[in-house]
Amino acid sequence: MPLARSMSITSLSGMEEWDEEFDLEDAVLFEIAWEVANKVGGIYTVIQTKARLTVEEWGENYFLVGPYVESNVRTQVELIEPTNPALKRTIDKMNSSGCKVYFGRWLIEGSPYVVLIDVAFTAWSLDKWKTELWNNFSIGVPWFDREANDAVLFGFLTAWLLGEEPPHILAHFHEWLAGLGLALCRQRLLPVATIFTTHATLLGRYLCAGSVDFYNNLANFNVDKEAGDRQIYHRYCLERTAARCAHVFTTVSQITAVEAEHLLKRKPDIITPNGLNVKKFSAMHEFQNLHAQSKNRIQEFVRGHFYGHLDFNLDKCLFLFIAGRYEFSNKGADIFLEALARLNYLLRVNHSDVTVVAFFIMPARTNNFNVETLKGQAVRKQLWDTAHTVKERFGKKLYESLLIGQLPDVSKMLDKEDFTMMKRAIFATQRQCQPPICTHNMLEDSTDPILTCIRRIGLFNSSADRVKVIFHPEFLSSTSPLLPMDYEEFVRGCHLGVFPSYYEPWGYTPAECTVMGIPSISTNLSGFGCFMEEHIADPSAYGIYILDRRYRGVDESCNQLTSYLFQFCQQSRRARIIQRNRTERLSDLLDWRYLGRVRPLTLARRGNVHSSRKTSAQGFRYPRPASVPPSPALSRHSSPHHSEAEDEDDRYDEDEEAEKDRLNIRQPLALPTKKGPLPYP
Ligand code: UDP
Ligand code: G6P
Ligand code: GLC
Repeated sequence: MPLARSMSITSLSGMEEWDEEFDLEDAVLFEIAWEVANKVGGIYTVIQTKARLTVEEWGENYFLVGPYVESNVRTQVELIEPTNPALKRTIDKMNSSGCKVYFGRWLIEGSPYVVLIDVAFTAWSLDKWKTELWNNFSIGVPWFDREANDAVLFGFLTAWLLGEEPPHILAHFHEWLAGLGLALCRQRLLPVATIFTTHATLLGRYLCAGSVDFYNNLANFNVDKEAGDRQIYHRYCLERTAARCAHVFTTVSQITAVEAEHLLKRKPDIITPNGLNVKKFSAMHEFQNLHAQSKNRIQEFVRGHFYGHLDFNLDKCLFLFIAGRYEFSNKGADIFLEALARLNYLLRVNHSDVTVVAFFIMPARTNNFNVETLKGQAVRKQLWDTAHTVKERFGKKLYESLLIGQLPDVSKMLDKEDFTMMKRAIFATQRQCQPPICTHNMLEDSTDPILTCIRRIGLFNSSADRVKVIFHPEFLSSTSPLLPMDYEEFVRGCHLGVFPSYYEPWGYTPAECTVMGIPSISTNLSGFGCFMEEHIADPSAYGIYILDRRYRGVDESCNQLTSYLFQFCQQSRRARIIQRNRTERLSDLLDWRYLGRVRPLTLARRGNVHSSRKTSAQGFRYPRPASVPPSPALSRHSSPHHSEAEDEDDRYDEDEEAEKDRLNIRQPLALPTKKGPLPYP
């Protein structure tokens, strides 16, 4: 490994000992997280989306470290011999000492190198390492906490990896699960510059999930007691130790920085908002076309799901969704359901012809798809096949008639056999029950929070309901027999993402919507919501609705959410198209290229831990769009009568609109260069 020659750390607080001379060009960067090549939630997205640019900057000197999970490796990783001689020696040595460490390329954009550690294989060391943890840090981990045991194994193994042939240079650890490795590097005085990024605080997540007025009491919690009461004291200690030991401590938003200051007792040195790997299409309307294509596929699914009850117009149907890890109240699924019930009422009393289908994509424990849901798709397919067969037979008769120079006798075009076939198919669509809410067999059906809430508010997909609900308790996949779409395709086909979170340090889901040009609702308690509020003069004009969950009670927030949803339902197609264009135009703001990936590394190198609390996009603000906002009041009556011609018409207006906005807002953001001065504050 190319190593810095003149660096040394001799004490825990030893950043002063660093030699300013060492060159970042010679450094090796390790990024360590439990979600490397292992999808759980947003941390995976952070690492995956940042990889291409990080590889461009660090080349052969960049290594990700994560857990070895066989199923993930089979699909996402190509195992190869270690490329770096020092790392190869280290891995060989570890493997000959009873560990299983793999090296490979993660098959994502940038193909970064990954070191994957099979923690279970080294479980024989757990007791020894726990004793060491207790002796050196006074942290006792109970035997029954599997996740914490994994964190101990992962921590000791990463410290071993980094310490075998020191000095390594920069190690960036994410979240408490990887934090122990950092603490051990410091305790063993390894010459490693460390960064710890927390993507949430454990205690914050737990407190918010209960019934605590979190944000008004941040300064008053007795943290040790609260952690103890929730039986997470040992995890809390691991997290706090990592935060305290890091040379540079960072988090993803201002709101989580304040939380960390109170709960972890260290103010983050810098805030690093999460970015995305933004791809620009060469054709301006490409993302709109993708919306139309994906929407068609969702419509197909809906046709199957509601077979026998398709008494609503799919062309006037809006697809809303919430997605993410299943944290019922933290993610705001509770108030989303409540607002849907109120929206249902409003649409009914206003005799709206709009139907809303709200998807809940949140993984829960299941035992596969349920029969009724699968049957729906089978019935749809059968109807499609029948229509196709009849069409073929019809076409043949028509052709034969034309061949002999006669116009066909329309009454004879369909014969008895055709009718029998069609009747049989229609018979199959008879259904005694309502279309199901849940697509899977839930293991904890009777206590599941979403299902319990639906039972209480009575949104049962009846034909009178203008709001239908579909709960898909599994992340989406293009290989699903039910809804064969990956998450990105699905988001593109929806109309609005709804993420009314109460606890959300950043919140990738609305950010992903934005770069795909899909409007979203987030909150002023989410890192993303606050970031957008800070950088856009009138976020809702750009399809970024930010719900106030900070200064309002739950009921008031729910009313505000209902009113956003109701307004959205009143928009014409044309207004939605214009709004999507505006939303997509904000993508640059969320591009890793403009966000401060490099800054924490630079700080760590310099040992510069003076708290700056600055975000990289600070100072930039999108003004209000010059053109009129897509308000329901301004939409045309003609909009619902949709035709291809109208689409063309929309296009024309869109371009005009886009041009006006562009003249008003687009000042290109300065791109950071590898060598040149960074444009960050
Ligand atoms: N996600 C996914 N498939 C799905 C639903 C969600 O891959 O079917 C991803 C989504 O793309 C996002 C992540 O899950 O990147 C959730 O991250 P977020 O920061 O919103 O929340 P977290 O789960 O980390 O709290
Ligand atoms: C895109 C397509 C249009 C389509 C429209 C539907 O803009 O380019 O052809 O009509 O989406 O929008 P909607 O909001 O009704 O799904
Ligand atoms: C955490 C947070 C989420 C954030 C993600 C990536 O899982 O819950 O809000 O987006 O990390 O930073």
